Amino acid sequence: MNLLLTIAAAAMVHVIPEPSSLEVRDGSFMLSPRSAIVATSPEAASVAETVAGKIRQSTGYAIPVKGKKGDIVLVLDQSQDIPAEGYRLSVTPKKVTATASTPAGLYYALQSFLQLLPPEIESLSAVNGIRWEAPCVEIEDAPRFAWRGFHIDPCRHFLSVEDVKKQIDILSEYKINTMHWHLTDDQGWRIEIKKYPKLTEVGAWRTEFDGSVHGGFYTKDEIRDVVAYAAERFVTVVPEIEMPGHAISAIRAYPELSCNKEVVRTFYTWGTPDISLCVGSERVFEFLEDVIAEVVELFPSEYIHIGGDECRKNRWETCPACQARIKAEGIVADDEFTAEEKLQSYAVHRMEEILLKYGRKLVGWDEILEGGLTPGATVMSWRGEDGGKKAAMAGHEVIMTPSKEGMYFDHFQGDPKIEPVSIGNYTTLEKVYFYNPVPAELSENGKASFVKGVQCNNWSEYIYSPSHREYMLFPRAFALAEIAWCPAENKDFPAFCKRVDDACRRLDFRGVNYHIPLPEQPGGSCDRIALIDSATLSFTSTRPVKMVYTLDGSEPAADSKEYTEPLTFTDDAVLKIASVTPFGRLSTVRTITVEKQTPLPAVEQTFGGIRARRADGKFVTADDLKGASWKDIEIAKLRDITSLEPFNRNVPDSTRFFAVEAEGFFNVDDTDVYRFSSDCDRVWIDGKLMIDNGAEVKRYSRHDADLALAAGTHRFRLIYIFNVIGGWNSLRNKTDISIRREGDEKWKNIKILNK
Ligand code: ACM
Ligand code: ZN
Repeated sequence: MNLLLTIAAAAMVHVIPEPSSLEVRDGSFMLSPRSAIVATSPEAASVAETVAGKIRQSTGYAIPVKGKKGDIVLVLDQSQDIPAEGYRLSVTPKKVTATASTPAGLYYALQSFLQLLPPEIESLSAVNGIRWEAPCVEIEDAPRFAWRGFHIDPCRHFLSVEDVKKQIDILSEYKINTMHWHLTDDQGWRIEIKKYPKLTEVGAWRTEFDGSVHGGFYTKDEIRDVVAYAAERFVTVVPEIEMPGHAISAIRAYPELSCNKEVVRTFYTWGTPDISLCVGSERVFEFLEDVIAEVVELFPSEYIHIGGDECRKNRWETCPACQARIKAEGIVADDEFTAEEKLQSYAVHRMEEILLKYGRKLVGWDEILEGGLTPGATVMSWRGEDGGKKAAMAGHEVIMTPSKEGMYFDHFQGDPKIEPVSIGNYTTLEKVYFYNPVPAELSENGKASFVKGVQCNNWSEYIYSPSHREYMLFPRAFALAEIAWCPAENKDFPAFCKRVDDACRRLDFRGVNYHIPLPEQPGGSCDRIALIDSATLSFTSTRPVKMVYTLDGSEPAADSKEYTEPLTFTDDAVLKIASVTPFGRLSTVRTITVEKQTPLPAVEQTFGGIRARRADGKFVTADDLKGASWKDIEIAKLRDITSLEPFNRNVPDSTRFFAVEAEGFFNVDDTDVYRFSSDCDRVWIDGKLMIDNGAEVKRYSRHDADLALAAGTHRFRLIYIFNVIGGWNSLRNKTDISIRREGDEKWKNIKILNK
């Protein structure tokens, strides 16, 4: 009986990251209106206050912090053999004791304790009628890595101080201890610098394609406030000042910082600019030194991130100052690196000299390896693990944050056809969970200790709201917390998923959004299904989750019919399907229309090739084309549409935006159901509107649709608009129409019939 109780209790313990050692004991501790935290040193009292504030909020209890007499006792004892951020936590029926050698350890002990309490403990207002009960446990715990980081990018889409704090607060509860704050980029300069006021007066703002203005920046006071708030939660804020690339917002404010003193606009599109800081110019280093002088005043962090990624060096090749610098420094190209790559290395070297004056360490993206690594540099390995491996083998510290291996949380976390648009790629919760930041090569060569830590990057090109930021971050951040804290051995994904469910429940009480896996159709999801005789739809999800559905048009609820096997349709239907968490929260509902169709008959081909016309102007959707003035144009291939005009990214107002309407004919060999897909604005087949991408970002063809066609010739019409929606320049689209026959795996482009 006792054993059974213990097993039941253990099943209720859901701590993330999983502690190194956790024993569940009989009985439980009950938080009461008389509970108090005992802290005998100022440092412990400060930790106690931070956590007590939260407990007061949800329980409504007074929870005083006292010098003695209380049921939650914090012991800060440097003589104990406990690693720096480690802790011991003992929960008995009468008393909770947290012991650590550092205040951070105490904070983490209390976070584990909070996770033993009911999820309502996370509520932002008092919840009545809860038994604030925690199972008795003995925990011993310590982290695997010293740098357990998350990155935020307010440059592409700004986020408020409140939102920054919210993320710090939540992530610190999962023992994440570093926030990499990407403060400058092409799309906005976000940190006030007194000596260069135009950086924020001008560089912090951008005018979007539609004329609206996006921007913002953090004042020095706000930054101090965030840094202090983070410090209370044992999060170190590492600022990033990008150089020598990704510096358009600075060049916008001070054109003299570029090689050609170019007048540019703060970018409203994404990507890598072709203009960089002129590192042949002493003025640029004076600027960087001035900026760093103000940055180090605000950030006590040992590390300062200087960027260094994706710097295009083409301007340097023809810049007299840059070339003079190459000559003066005796820089010569060799088999491995160009002179310009070595010039970047020279510039990073100078940044290190500046930082050393202030006793700080340099960290940069892995491109800082190109041209030779600066002696004391720490490398952030993002283009895979190779940069990290190379740097660690050479005795440099590295932070692992490889993109394709799972550390980029701006990637899709489910089927791109139905997830909100993202920058691309595919990083599921499971992939993050199984990432091991120490590559075998480093362990085998005794270099594992150079891996200082691991970090997730949260680039925000496609993050248009705070709640979407949370959707991309959670629950993947829980997996990050595990890999950053726990040993790599003994991974158990199903068990982790149970802990994730519980952690998401806690997020519910905090008003934090998160990703719930959607019901996905293997081979690519589609909301507009056609059938001739019958269609069978099956669903899966990126991690085990219950799915529920309706067929009567009503919205599914947690207790709707459960999806257990493929559904076969022989007539028109509307399927509404959603996933539901163990706590009854529904994912986004997918509405899938199933239409019984008579195959559209073949049509007569009345012309060959493409018949096209063009209208000039700034259009957002095809609806804006009413009354447009059209001119016939000649194009041989649909792809030629995107070569009609260049996009001037540096000064977009000088770009000639336009729309094209194109028509033609194609063949299908057999009578069957075909699926169509396109990033064009609208596509019609035989006069039937198949795709309408509306005012959405036109990437990843997220409005596919089926159509039954008889064997033979069919007619298409499309509208393509060259515009910028959500920062995506549609000139980068493939303007084809893709077709896939029912049952096939591969997409093809429709083949346009000539005469
Ligand atoms: C990066 O993602 N460009 C570091
Ligand atoms: Zn130059």
